[in-house]
Amino acid sequence: HVADKREFRHFMLKEIHEQPETAALWVSRHLPEGLPASMPVALPFDEAFYAGIERIEILACGTSRHAALVGAHLLEQFAGLPTAVHYASEFRYAPPPLAPNTLTIGVTQSGETADTLAALAMEAQRRCAHPDPAYASRQLGVTNRPESSLSRQVPHILDIGAGVEVGVAATKTFTGQLLAFYGLAMAFATRSGSRSAAEIQTLADELRMLPQQLQELVSLHDQRSEALAHRFAETQDVIFLGRGINYPIALEGALKLKEISYIHAEGYPAGEMKHGPIALLDAHVPVVSIAVPGTVFEKVLSNAQEAKARDARLIGVAPEGPDTALFDDLLPVPEVSEWLSPLLTVVPMQLLSYHIAAHRGLDVDQPRNLAKSVTVE
Ligand code: G6P
Repeated sequence: HVADKREFRHFMLKEIHEQPETAALWVSRHLPEGLPASMPVALPFDEAFYAGIERIEILACGTSRHAALVGAHLLEQFAGLPTAVHYASEFRYAPPPLAPNTLTIGVTQSGETADTLAALAMEAQRRCAHPDPAYASRQLGVTNRPESSLSRQVPHILDIGAGVEVGVAATKTFTGQLLAFYGLAMAFATRSGSRSAAEIQTLADELRMLPQQLQELVSLHDQRSEALAHRFAETQDVIFLGRGINYPIALEGALKLKEISYIHAEGYPAGEMKHGPIALLDAHVPVVSIAVPGTVFEKVLSNAQEAKARDARLIGVAPEGPDTALFDDLLPVPEVSEWLSPLLTVVPMQLLSYHIAAHRGLDVDQPRNLAKSVTVE
């Protein structure tokens, strides 16, 4: 039976361990060997789907919104398409002015979240009412439930194929959503010419190595974060810092921790810490900092140093090496291209939250006041 915990204590832990499989299935479906350079990723859309798209708007809630933020970074920085992410619940009552040739993407693993469905419906309606056909509604749904209500509402679906997820806190569906955005970014980059064929190929090759890397990462961090979790027995607040493509992973790290452990946590762009959260820091407030080589590596390390100077205990999600010796505890991730890094940095975040909550004896799979799919607005 699919809803079986196997040897795991909780569904959430099992689903974290299933992420290499999620990635392997995605690679086999969308990056099969032998794709021509003109089509580096196989997605279920024809040319008419891509034609004329000049900007993208993404609507989502919760963890899906964090995947959308990574997606927006990829669509803008890798594929060169202006992209905005909206809380679905805010978009519906305060939508941005209409722009022509816009693709609206709804991201919802369940395909049933009322806020996301209502926002998509409102957008379709106001676009249909516009006399200029350039404003017509173009909608795509990214979901783990291709048979859901979402699929009856939008003309195009990208199925993340992560399999049943039981834990209320999303893990493998987050990875599946991220992968959907890597696929879209490669497809749009090919058509926009924002990246050379070689750059797109390099990203595809790295994605093919992901299942193996995830496998190693999950086993390593299951042990490392369990060993670290007991230090959080008395912790009441945690700050998560990241920058650039890993800023949404800091948000996701904070969301996971508060959802299942009930510890207050905030995710911040590391450079913004000095404009507020730094006032909270002392020896009782650990700081988790995501620092991976790339455009913002030195900046993130110097932001971490500022936190250390306020006596905060520093936990680094970073590669091992002399640069990262400043961290009190290191949750090591392999060195990969910065583009790919969110797919790896999220794993220690998930496992750390899981073990902190499990160590506190909490009901990890059914946290209080939360639901797997929220069908009220
Ligand atoms: C609920 C869940 C979250 C999830 C959010 C959006 O709040 O507890 O884990 O991220 O809904 O769900 P969706 O199905 O739209 O991705």
